[in-house]
Amino acid sequence: MNELDEVVHKASVEFVQALTPADLENAKARYLGKSGVMTDLMRGLAALGPEDKKSRGAQINKAKQAIEAALNDRRQALADLELQTQLQAEALDVTLPGRQRGVGGLHPVSLTLERIEALFSTMGFDVADGPEIETDWFNFTALNTPADHPARSMHDTFYVEGGSAEAPNLLRTHTSPMQIRHAVQHVKRYCGDESGLFKGPMPEIRVIAPGRTYRVDSDATHSPMFHQCEGLWIGQDVSFKDLKYVFTDFCRTFFESDDLVLRFRPSFFPFTEPSAEIDIQFQQGPLAGKWLEVAGSGQVHPNVIRNMGLDPEIFVGFAFGMGPDRLTMLRYGVNDLRLFFDGDLRFLSQFQ
Ligand code: DAH
Repeated sequence: MNELDEVVHKASVEFVQALTPADLENAKARYLGKSGVMTDLMRGLAALGPEDKKSRGAQINKAKQAIEAALNDRRQALADLELQTQLQAEALDVTLPGRQRGVGGLHPVSLTLERIEALFSTMGFDVADGPEIETDWFNFTALNTPADHPARSMHDTFYVEGGSAEAPNLLRTHTSPMQIRHAVQHVKRYCGDESGLFKGPMPEIRVIAPGRTYRVDSDATHSPMFHQCEGLWIGQDVSFKDLKYVFTDFCRTFFESDDLVLRFRPSFFPFTEPSAEIDIQFQQGPLAGKWLEVAGSGQVHPNVIRNMGLDPEIFVGFAFGMGPDRLTMLRYGVNDLRLFFDGDLRFLSQFQ
């Protein structure tokens, strides 16, 4: 190996040993830089005669080209290596299962509300919606519950701005105010300019009003916000018998249980007379044989009929108020009401 071949060999080895682009540039400087080996050799040409200069110059150039070729090879190799490292770091495992986009679903209580609406619709009931912030009049007074009535104390609620000092507005404690709101609108449509209590004629009022209600109450079976669904049927020939038929039919269909037994237990509500709590009893399953309270009900009180703008000598009817949260718990076997309002997907996704 002559001296120039040796230089080329040494340079190639140093290039290959360079592990980073910066190392490689330093190695390059040692051979091709201003005071590098090859530059020194070129300078040495000055001392030679013309013939020697020519042949030696050609040899040096050849060696220089070989060094440059080795340098370029190494540059390319380092660049390839870097690209590979980067690709590995950002590697995509295309065999991983894709992230699934969750399919949303209705909340169990919403499922119950939809079911209630569908079932009552088949019996000719309209569905009405009303405000959650109520006046004292609609929530209490119009429902035969004057300011000093003891029944009010069972409806402790959240009072809000608006109304008067003696009768501030409030978050409705039940859906019963919708009885008045809906009936008043209905009556207005048929009474024309007549003043006083309307005597008809008028199509029957048949409506349910589901929605949120509020009370100062919180434990495993009570939540400060809960749902109710009001029912109202007013006509000239509507009796307690119809209430029994309608509610029994509803419960048996809702729970898909033909042998479900209902009990109308005498009770008191200011807005109905007579009044009854409605209890149900399953004949099968884990709750079989137990009486479970699901609704309040009764014959609408004449004072309430009056506040609807109707003549109580002519119009009669029944009303009921049930708890869709409770119905949902019974239907699905849920034992803590608070689960419905925690927003825990492990619980909620079981109802899809
Ligand atoms: N509003 C009553 C409550 O929240 C439930 C109720 C009872 C509604 C009797 C009615 C009814 O329509 O007739 O306790």
